Amino acid sequence: MNIKIIGTGYVGLITGLCLSLKHQVECVDINTKIVEKINLGLPHLYEVGLEELLKKQLKSGNFKSILLKNLSLKGTDIVLICVGTPSLEDDSCDLNYVNSAIESIIPLLSNLKQNISIIIKSTVPPGTVSSFITKKVREIYPLQSFPNIAFGMNPEFLREGSAISDFLNPDRIVLGADSEISQNHLIKLYKHFECPKIKVNSSTAEMIKYVNNSLLALQISAVNEYANICDGIENVDIRQVMSGVLQDKRWQSNENAKIPPFIHSYLKAGCGFGGSCFPKDVKALSKFASLNKVPTPLLEGTLSINENQPASLVKKVSKITDLKKAKVLLLGVSFKPNTDDIRDSPIHLFIKHFSFKGSKVFVHDPLVLEKLKSHPSSEYLGNKSYIKNFKEFLPTVEIIVLITYWQCYLELPSLITKKNQVILDSRGVFNSNDFPTSKYLTTGLR
Ligand SMILES: NC(=O)c1ccc[n+]([C@@H]2O[C@H](COP(=O)([O-])OP(=O)(O)OC[C@H]3O[C@@H](n4cnc5c(N)ncnc54)[C@H](O)[C@@H]3O)[C@@H](O)[C@H]2O)c1
Repeated sequence: MNIKIIGTGYVGLITGLCLSLKHQVECVDINTKIVEKINLGLPHLYEVGLEELLKKQLKSGNFKSILLKNLSLKGTDIVLICVGTPSLEDDSCDLNYVNSAIESIIPLLSNLKQNISIIIKSTVPPGTVSSFITKKVREIYPLQSFPNIAFGMNPEFLREGSAISDFLNPDRIVLGADSEISQNHLIKLYKHFECPKIKVNSSTAEMIKYVNNSLLALQISAVNEYANICDGIENVDIRQVMSGVLQDKRWQSNENAKIPPFIHSYLKAGCGFGGSCFPKDVKALSKFASLNKVPTPLLEGTLSINENQPASLVKKVSKITDLKKAKVLLLGVSFKPNTDDIRDSPIHLFIKHFSFKGSKVFVHDPLVLEKLKSHPSSEYLGNKSYIKNFKEFLPTVEIIVLITYWQCYLELPSLITKKNQVILDSRGVFNSNDFPTSKYLTTGLR
């Protein structure tokens, strides 16, 4: 098939490259630097295996990147829209990028001989495709005269850090189509994938994505709430509590009880969820519901527990040491390991809360230290706050906070040489025995 992908970010680039293994793909963007870099085989974002796949697919001749102004839809079967849908100030989903992408392709839809499907892959509120986008296009190209134009929604479930593998080995593919043309196009697009294909209309597909993300976010906040209760009880560790809970067969997979179901990784206490999806999608669903006058106490609770989690951990540190003028080293900037995405990472709240308490904040990350310099959080940091060699810097601080569990922090216990440092393990990966000469704190353990 001939595929055009509008928006060449985390989702657009991975989708484009993976689909180009079987189809002819052009990834389109408005950013000249991105397009130039991609065509040179240099990805503008980090993902495991991405550079190798990009180089291979450029060589195959099935993949290239182009600027939006050079886009033509002649012979194109599917346009996949993969632009960003961030939060607006009022927490609703910002559809401006989607709107502008649609406006750019509208003039290109005239005089097409083939059937063409406009498919949204970006996460958007229910009804966006069936009302907003379809109406906008149909005002110019009415159905009677242009039955060859079709619409659909194909949400993406890849996770940054394992995006290529997730895309190539999906649990299921949701084919949200509002006509036979778009359904057939989607079936053909994914015919090489052997996984359940869920055929629904576009609004149901949009809702599947929101419920998927907000239900996972809810698990994280639920366990963090239980962890905060454990914080107030002597000799109770949330990790022991959860391991007791998760042995219940209703939380276990039937096939192989030795491998814990993936859901267990969302049922761990920590510093809360971040990234470019969960926070904004939970907010957008809640806002969408409130516009429809449906109360959402669970979604609001999920968000407020999450937003308070870093502050409650900073408070925990403040109970055992004076934060004023204390030197604090924060380990891990990206919202999870193996990605360079720092959008809504928990580190931003840690930087803010420690700074407000008068601490001197230092940060380290093996991949994205430079990126933090252009983020609003850098306002709380000085030129010398960005630490390149964390191992050397460890003995100079009073407080060490593990935020993102990158592989390089695995050896943290063996690197501690100074006595009485406070170690806040916000991900609950170590034990107090690992730090015999430090004051060890973690989520959900007093
Ligand atoms: N990042 C993820 O892990 C993930 C996973 C599943 C779903 N999603 C959803 O996918 C969508 C895209 O997310 P992302 O993280 O890839 O975003 P991103 O910000 O990484 O990429 C968006 C790209 O679109 C480009 N762009 C903006 N307007 C454009 C236009 N009019 N024409 C062409 N290009 C344009 C930007 O330059 C940018 O390169 C969002 O709705 C997101 O919620 C993201």
